[in-house]
Amino acid sequence: MTLTIVGSQLGDEGKGALVDRWGGDADVVVRYQGGDNAGHTVVEGGTEYKLSLVPSGAVRGTVGILGNGCVVNPKTLFTEIDDLRERGLDPDVRVARRAHVIMPYHRVLDGIEEEVKADDDAGDEVGTTGRGIGPTYEDKAGRRGIRIADLLAPDVLREKLEYAVPQKRALVEDVYGLDLAEDDRAEAFDVDALHEEFTRIGERLADEGMTVNCSDYLNRRSDAGDRILFEGAQGTHIDVDHGNYPFVTSSNPTAGGAAVGSGLGVTTVGDGEVVGIVKAYLSRVGSGPLPTELDGDAEEEALADDIREKGGEFGTVTGRPRRIGWLDLPMLRHAARVSGFTGVAVNHVDVLAGLDELKACTAYELDGDELDTVPTTTERWERCEPVYETLDTWEPFDSAAVAEEGYDALPEAAREYLEFVADEIDTPVYAVGVGPDREETVELTNPFDE
Ligand code: GDP
Ligand code: IMO
Ligand code: MG
Repeated sequence: MTLTIVGSQLGDEGKGALVDRWGGDADVVVRYQGGDNAGHTVVEGGTEYKLSLVPSGAVRGTVGILGNGCVVNPKTLFTEIDDLRERGLDPDVRVARRAHVIMPYHRVLDGIEEEVKADDDAGDEVGTTGRGIGPTYEDKAGRRGIRIADLLAPDVLREKLEYAVPQKRALVEDVYGLDLAEDDRAEAFDVDALHEEFTRIGERLADEGMTVNCSDYLNRRSDAGDRILFEGAQGTHIDVDHGNYPFVTSSNPTAGGAAVGSGLGVTTVGDGEVVGIVKAYLSRVGSGPLPTELDGDAEEEALADDIREKGGEFGTVTGRPRRIGWLDLPMLRHAARVSGFTGVAVNHVDVLAGLDELKACTAYELDGDELDTVPTTTERWERCEPVYETLDTWEPFDSAAVAEEGYDALPEAAREYLEFVADEIDTPVYAVGVGPDREETVELTNPFDE
């Protein structure tokens, strides 16, 4: 069977923690989209691991696959694997031969495009992670991308570089007006240097037996009765199709992405469980609207600071402070529908403890209408006024004790909050996060038992 873990908001909902939690029951953990823009945290007995490419199952020694839907920076991957080895883990990671490679020029282009957007003062920069994600997916769709398989065939690699690189040079020089002869980023546009470096990378991938035909591999594992856990990265509202375009990433974190990005059939993925990971409030790193953002006045800003500190809301990849808002149910309804959630895990319930006031947005008001879901355009979403419901607050509690005793040990108001969320989105709560550690999760349902 399969279990697909999906971010239901704007990323950083605590997906890594749940992948780790349920990863103990999985035989394979698969990333199906995104790249090293992800930052997934696993805390095991107080030891913290921050993973950007290596699937989170690595902490438990489960084989990890980077599916064909991923964009892979092999240098980040090797660094991460080497670091984990130094810390005593032995990550077994295989990369789909159909996955696309993030080349040095993609990272440079990501940076330049953001700079250009920032300079025109139109406020249209996305605030990307600068990892080259967008430019790599552009080349994939534009049929000029370099795939992992190409790194294993030096002649093919050269041919592809000779086609793509002059176009990138022309883009930075003729469109963006950079003089590469005078720029320390020139090597990112040098066919010979790239060919040499990436041929060596291909050799390491081959030597370590790291490449796979992902679809073939996963279908065999599935046919053999193995349990496959899909680890979504990012979140529904930064999905390129279903998110608030253009303030999105360039892939499909929603559950449909799991089939396309791995080559396991939709019927197999759809026959499994799809669990949306929900943060009990909202955080956003990067630009774009956030109707429930706590930034209206000094009091709201102080509350946001408090939640940010308690929740450690600073980007895992870039260290940027995350913007904070109240839970937004129209966003969750959209997420539940798009991915077909069978359950949700609500994290950070500990972080909301001890507040003076607790609110959740149940609907939006826009031009005199009440909406129960997110409008299709960012311009309309930006103009939405949240309709709030005020809920009872709860006092701080001992997370470890609650996790051990179970759901009924949670403060009553916290349980009411969770039941309210489940009711509003018509989806059962499978797990409740009360702290970052593997043990600090209250489990109501293990999706692998469903
Ligand atoms: P991901 O990208 O969805 O995997 O989430 P991140 O790892 O980027 O961010 C989530 C952060 O919250 C990490 O620091 C986690 O260790 C932490 N975390 C996860 N679940 C909980 C929870 O229930 N309570 C608290 N306080 N922290 C949590
Ligand atoms: P995880 O998997 C939160 C955001 C960036 C930016 C936008 C596009 O840890 O939840 P990109 O570099 O992907 O082109 O940036 O998406 N973003 C994330 N925000 N969590 C993530 O991943 C994110 N990955 C990208 O901040 O707004
Ligand atoms: Mg993250």
